[in-house]
Amino acid sequence: MSTKITIAIDGYSACGKSTLAKALAKALDYSFIDSGAMYRGASLFFHRLGYVSEKHIDREAIENAIKDLKLCFKIDNAKNCLYLHNENIEDEIRQAHVANIVSKVATIKAVRVALVKQQQRMGQNGGIVMDGRDIGSIVFPNAQLKLFVTASPEIRAQRRFAELQEKGIPQSLEEVRSNLTKRDHVDSTREESPLIQVKDAIVLDNSTLTKKEQLEWVLEKAKTIIRSNH
Ligand code: DC
Repeated sequence: MSTKITIAIDGYSACGKSTLAKALAKALDYSFIDSGAMYRGASLFFHRLGYVSEKHIDREAIENAIKDLKLCFKIDNAKNCLYLHNENIEDEIRQAHVANIVSKVATIKAVRVALVKQQQRMGQNGGIVMDGRDIGSIVFPNAQLKLFVTASPEIRAQRRFAELQEKGIPQSLEEVRSNLTKRDHVDSTREESPLIQVKDAIVLDNSTLTKKEQLEWVLEKAKTIIRSNH
């Protein structure tokens, strides 16, 4: 029997889920999937088609076009990057024009059904760490390890602001704060697969933890489960 487990990491925007998931996958030699990047990629695709902007959304057009969306991850310069058809969109999906529409696009059931199907295919053999909002509840309800990551809103805003600055993406701290508040609200109150803390998830509040401390904490939990699965 395979001893490779499935690890689901959910939580609010900008609480360090992807950083933790990536480090955990590396330490275990598992694959890592940032499901938020896929919702961002879908949003960029529909934005370019003119179906969604900050002011409007054409749900019917999006439902009809979802079959044409082709997203995949490829390694580029030793970095896991999201591709839309043949274009590396990893940088563009982090920009404000995508961040400001992604929560809206993620409320559309047809979009969620298509992306969840692709995510489940990616994880069918285990050995995966996936982060998002519905991973422990919908995508991998049988994941052997589920985490719910959280941190104070101000710390999350500061962290995301620093990250964007480092990447040279211009956004003020106030804009980042406002975007996070709006996304938290939409993500946790939407009808389709809202962000919830499932009963069997372990809560990790990382407000005062370093990246290294978080990784050690989670790695210990993962290794215990892997050993008991042996
Ligand atoms: O993790 P992130 O901030 O890059 O996610 C971007 C948006 O995508 C977020 O506002 C909610 C949505 N999302 C989702 O609905 N379900 C997921 N599994 C991952 C992200």
